[in-house]
Amino acid sequence: MRENIISKINEARDYIKGRIDFVPEIGLILGSGLGVMGEEVEDKIIIEYSDIPNFPVSTVEGHKSRFIFGTLGGKKVAVMQGRFHYYEGYHIQQTVFPVWVMKALGISKMIVTNAAGGVNTSFHAGDLMLIRDHINFACVNPLIGPNIEEFGPRFPDMSNAYSKRMSEIALQCAKEIGMIMQEGTYMYLTGPTYETPAEIRALRVLGSDAVGMSTVPEVVVANHCGVEVMGISCITNMAAGILDQPLSHHEVVETAEAVKVNFIKLLKSILERV
Ligand code: HPA
Repeated sequence: MRENIISKINEARDYIKGRIDFVPEIGLILGSGLGVMGEEVEDKIIIEYSDIPNFPVSTVEGHKSRFIFGTLGGKKVAVMQGRFHYYEGYHIQQTVFPVWVMKALGISKMIVTNAAGGVNTSFHAGDLMLIRDHINFACVNPLIGPNIEEFGPRFPDMSNAYSKRMSEIALQCAKEIGMIMQEGTYMYLTGPTYETPAEIRALRVLGSDAVGMSTVPEVVVANHCGVEVMGISCITNMAAGILDQPLSHHEVVETAEAVKVNFIKLLKSILERV
């Protein structure tokens, strides 16, 4: 099993290496409705996930399914336009497979973005939130199984899952651009249902500021293999029961679309400095 995963990772890495001519330094994962950021990459090399050996294929509306390699904010990047979610039916290790491949390609840092529901009642739809920490409420961990010693230890430390260094840079960049950035704890549930109002009240008591269906598995794997992580949630809607209106994927994508110009500006300036 262990050899199997490593050889699958290496096979995907070798395919990509054959198509790019540089070592990416930063991996960037773009969430629902935020994929347009990928268009900003200079000297693009686009690789569809479906062309990469052993890669799953993304199925969610609003997500593309490809890598864009190139330069952004002066840095060599591997941008994921589209990610894999547990709720799509993949094994949890398939959802994090691209992170292992990016690590094998040479990234040392990763910036994750997502669309999330605002649980903290002081937030508003359209806010950005720096992820300070997370709670894995899906109770599924991608590192279950034989440990890949080459990548990291059996029992990885998660005390600083989100880099303080990168987070301070993000806050500073937001300040200089004149953008307000919230900060808080992201809580991961599997989905695909949005939460009930009672669940949101419970999550708030447990310390959640935002809730979503992605990111945490990728961040766990990145931490295990020593990749420095920073995360930003786009609060696309207030979570269930806070406002008197139903939630929809349409609203999530629409809000993400509306903030994309500011979000792109912020990410570029972060990339320049990290
Ligand atoms: N809940 C869970 N995931 C989400 C939400 C939400 O309200 N909004 C965007 N992703």
